[in-house]
Amino acid sequence: MKKIGVLTSGGDAPGMNACVRAVVRYAIYNGLTVYGIERGYSGLINNHMVEMNKRSVSDIIQRGGTILKTARCPEFREDKYMQIAVDNMEAYGIEGLVVIGGDGSYRGALDLYNKFGVKAVGIPGTIDNDLAYTDYTLGFDTSVNTVVSAINNLRDTMTSHDRVCIIEVMGRKCGDIALYAGISGGAEMILVPEVECDLKKIVKKISLNQRIGKTSDIIVLAEGVCKAEELKQELKDNGILGSIKTTTLGYIQRGGAPSMFDRVLAARCAVRAVDLLMQDKGGRVVGIKDNKIIDEDIAEALAQERHFDKELYDTAMILGL
Ligand code: F6P
Repeated sequence: MKKIGVLTSGGDAPGMNACVRAVVRYAIYNGLTVYGIERGYSGLINNHMVEMNKRSVSDIIQRGGTILKTARCPEFREDKYMQIAVDNMEAYGIEGLVVIGGDGSYRGALDLYNKFGVKAVGIPGTIDNDLAYTDYTLGFDTSVNTVVSAINNLRDTMTSHDRVCIIEVMGRKCGDIALYAGISGGAEMILVPEVECDLKKIVKKISLNQRIGKTSDIIVLAEGVCKAEELKQELKDNGILGSIKTTTLGYIQRGGAPSMFDRVLAARCAVRAVDLLMQDKGGRVVGIKDNKIIDEDIAEALAQERHFDKELYDTAMILGL
């Protein structure tokens, strides 16, 4: 294989730039030509590809977002658009593709491989940490640290005013951001989609806290459960007195300089992805298990059921008493 492409797709995640940099530099080091494809799969369809050199990725390791830009590309589910993308890749002589993104992006890579024989390799880039085959995805660690820093600030003001605060965090249907940020920020309660929400228990805990003079509580709420305002209403309807405030952290969780963990993970995954392409292998995804870089068949990786760390959740609940 002589020429490869790299794209970022779906929601951006801190560490994507560090990963693009590593793919480009490691590929060039190994004598490959690398094209950067803009705006995910839509760049393949619209022929937005530029040859990268070592300097094209200077000064990006510390930046959040993605210099290649990103997009969600619903057209890519249709064979006729995929065919255009494949023809464009052929015209450039691109034989392999590194796709940095989440499960939606992986489905595109799987179709390219199964239906058109394009050697695509996926690297997990999403703050959600919702891919079962890997312990961590790029961006998750940074995002959690951003949430922890927000919890610290919110706790200062909530404690001063004797308020309960509901902090809504991202993650789609996955509660990992809420769990890891909640345990790190010492949250009194963490609500995630993987554990049934027992409203009575929450009400009892807040009321008990108020009776013993603990007048401020932090509830970290994963967006996959409900909206912060809905939970606030439920608490009020169930008799919680006093001030309840809500904060939806939103897109602040997706930006910012990547953490050391995400930068190192980006480098390690990039090296494995390029190595796979140099061995002419496609249809695979790279990840990390027990601190070792692994690769797996995309379809098998996507079919795996996610495991939620209930033990860590129970620990968080005990410590947040
Ligand atoms: O998948 C990453 C993520 O930030 C989710 O946590 C969130 O639900 C979603 O993307 C928001 O998507 P969009 O950028 O399309 O608003």
